[in-house]
Amino acid sequence: MIKTLATAVAGAVIGLSLSLPASAAGLVTYEIMDDAITASLTGKNGDAAKGRNLAINRKKGNCLACHAMPIPEQAFHGNIGPDLKGVGSRYKAGELRLRVVDPKVVNEDTIMPAFYRAAGLNRVMKKFQGKTVLSADEVEDIVAYLTTLK
Ligand code: HEC
Repeated sequence: MIKTLATAVAGAVIGLSLSLPASAAGLVTYEIMDDAITASLTGKNGDAAKGRNLAINRKKGNCLACHAMPIPEQAFHGNIGPDLKGVGSRYKAGELRLRVVDPKVVNEDTIMPAFYRAAGLNRVMKKFQGKTVLSADEVEDIVAYLTTLK
């Protein structure tokens, strides 16, 4: 019984350490100005070809689940979100970055997932706690790809 309690307390402490602020969890910190994150998360430009693959990848961006995109070799495109064709003309890179990193800043009711936010999520499975869907490099690759969609 006592042992069980000790285990439970240890479990609670481990649970706490998993909900550290983003920077402490090794995430890049970023600044939101108006409607954009103007600075690259990595300080570098992403790779648009990699970004296109990440957008298709069902375990990574999975953007096609909700968006139509100019990716003709993929049969199934979603229509929950707006068509991303031409999105690089509608938004600047910094605005696209914010929408991928944390779209809830733009619309708190959106169903689009935040791809680079570890804090403030609900019902996160333990193995995913403190982790983001995409890495900072992957976010930059996707932003680079989106800016080509003119
Ligand atoms: C679960 C569905 C879903 C997924 C997955 C999703 N989105 Fe979205 N996205 C939306 C919805 C819905 C909107 C409309 C904006 C809103 O809800 O406020 C949106 C809006 C956007 C916008 C702004 C478009 C505009 O014309 O205003 C961009 C850019 C975008 N998404 C990019 C992406 C990218 C890139 C991915 C993959 C990394 C992705 N989305 C994954 C649902 C999704």
